[in-house]
Amino acid sequence: VFNLKFAITGKGGVGKTTITALLAQAFTNKGYKLFVVDADPSPSLGNALGIPETTMNELTPISEMLDLIEERTGVRPGSGYGAMFKLNPQVDDIPNKYSVVSPTGIKLLVVGTIKAAEAGCFCPENALLKRLLKHLILSKEEILIMDMEAGIEHLGRGTVKLMDLLIIILEPGLRSIKVAEQIKKLGEDLGIKKFGAILNKIQDQTRDESMISAKLSKLDIPIIGSLPFNEKLVQADLEGIPLYKIEGCEQIFLEINEIQNRIESMITDE
Ligand SMILES: Nc1ncnc2c1ncn2[C@@H]1O[C@H](COP(=O)(O)OP(=O)(O)OP(=O)(O)O)[C@@H](O)[C@H]1O
Ligand SMILES: [Mg+2]
Repeated sequence: VFNLKFAITGKGGVGKTTITALLAQAFTNKGYKLFVVDADPSPSLGNALGIPETTMNELTPISEMLDLIEERTGVRPGSGYGAMFKLNPQVDDIPNKYSVVSPTGIKLLVVGTIKAAEAGCFCPENALLKRLLKHLILSKEEILIMDMEAGIEHLGRGTVKLMDLLIIILEPGLRSIKVAEQIKKLGEDLGIKKFGAILNKIQDQTRDESMISAKLSKLDIPIIGSLPFNEKLVQADLEGIPLYKIEGCEQIFLEINEIQNRIESMITDE
């Protein structure tokens, strides 16, 4: 029985959603059952996976289903401090009821994100989301990939706590390294033991990789892959083409398959 859950994090716009969709497809091609979670406040993973726009438009992120949250936790979101909500709300029916399936069989659940509420993490939305994630990863032989909100703020809400591995995406540039450093620190504080970096949008391999890899080795974050900049990915995003359909990206697909292998062995070689 193999079950693995990891989150894709990093600075805004570095390629988290793109890489989540590509990795989900790579795991699917190897025969795994995939469950992907979109935890971004403006979800776009459905599009990258090829789920029709009309289907996506009809979806409400779980964190915005006020009636559902109230029904399950006993408290309506936003009802202020002091309300006592159920810590173990029932969630087992949620994954099937509210997920959608991509044309290649990947299940997607859009959970959205918790707005920085006055009540911090102690709000019913977050209680429901954490419980839901815990439930999701209990099912066997499934890979769970969570596409996270950009930056670091959400890490404080603890939804990534249950992950086996935090993957940090970087692009050439100091800002993405700065964010990686913060993610590593916060992740460790949450008890996460495994980290891996993927370098994305590499244009000049010598220049870009040497600069980033020196910094990452100082931070003790292993590099698990490196993807070239490819205009086809920009075009796919502009035209809304699902990533499993793009052509002319052989190098990207080769590298993604290697990353898939490395993730698999990072978890099994212990
Ligand atoms: N290797 C690449 N080469 C060229 N363009 C890329 C590459 N990877 C991602 N992109 C493009 O960069 C843009 C941002 O990618 P993406 O939406 O995946 O980033 P993100 O980290 O999820 O962003 P956000 O923080 O907004 O959620 C998209 O237009 C995408 O097509
Ligand atoms: Mg994204």
